[in-house]
Amino acid sequence: MTLTGKTAVVTGAAGAIGTAVAGALAAAGARVALIDLEGPPLAALAGRLVSPAFGIDLADPAMVRQGAARVLDDLGRVDILVNNAGVLSNAKMAATSLEEWHRVQAINVDAAFLLAQTFLPAMRAARWGRIINMSSYAAKSGGLTAGTAYSVSKTAMIGLTFSIAREVAGEGVTANAIAPAYVMSPMVSEQLTPAQQEAQRAAIPVGRFCDPAEVAHAVMFLASPLAGFITGEVIDMNGGMHFD
Ligand SMILES: NC(=O)c1ccc[n+]([C@@H]2O[C@H](COP(=O)([O-])OP(=O)(O)OC[C@H]3O[C@@H](n4cnc5c(N)ncnc54)[C@H](O)[C@@H]3O)[C@@H](O)[C@H]2O)c1
Repeated sequence: MTLTGKTAVVTGAAGAIGTAVAGALAAAGARVALIDLEGPPLAALAGRLVSPAFGIDLADPAMVRQGAARVLDDLGRVDILVNNAGVLSNAKMAATSLEEWHRVQAINVDAAFLLAQTFLPAMRAARWGRIINMSSYAAKSGGLTAGTAYSVSKTAMIGLTFSIAREVAGEGVTANAIAPAYVMSPMVSEQLTPAQQEAQRAAIPVGRFCDPAEVAHAVMFLASPLAGFITGEVIDMNGGMHFD
């Protein structure tokens, strides 16, 4: 697949999945703007992919709006938006403070909404666009793998996907979501002991963790010109834990 001439934005680009997604889009020829917190991981990725990097704290709506305008200025227009950034919260109902709730919604949902709102007009004008939102199996399972604020934020990402898909279906713009579980990331490889990793692996029917490259592959499929008839879809990537 070639995306030469296309522009893309990936949030959470310096993370496990974001790095794989940004690399795949760049390898297909897209010009990819990388959004993440300012810091060495973002700078290193930008250097490796020769891509513009934007240090934006997605928890701050004013910074998101300003940052999105800078991205648009740099790219001219955004053809592909991958709302991938996210923070995990494992707190259940009783342990979730309102402050934590708002922080998680701000990063996981509000930023995705604001970026889509900023980039949609040019997609609609061009009559071509792809919005891909990172949800989670947590949304489908009521939080089997995470806490309340996180699970609600990931369910909201599905609602946002459906709403955008419905609104712009006739204008060449698609909106889809991916709902992964147990993707191999530093959270698993560095923060869990081998015994804990083994216990988690045993709970996954396919018997292994998902590779970030596999999530990137799903993003590439949804971003491709040939996926234009797919909109409002949520692709499950949970190794067989949940079918619907
Ligand atoms: N890893 C999994 O098993 C899994 C499962 C389901 C869903 N997801 C979702 O996939 C996405 C990527 O997850 P990952 O595993 O690559 O995690 P990760 O922690 O490796 O990457 C997340 C990225 O988001 C960035 N980020 C966090 N807060 C930010 C902020 N305020 N402003 C800007 N950037 C910020 C981080 O710096 C990081 O680079 C997330 O939305 C996550 O919820 C992951």
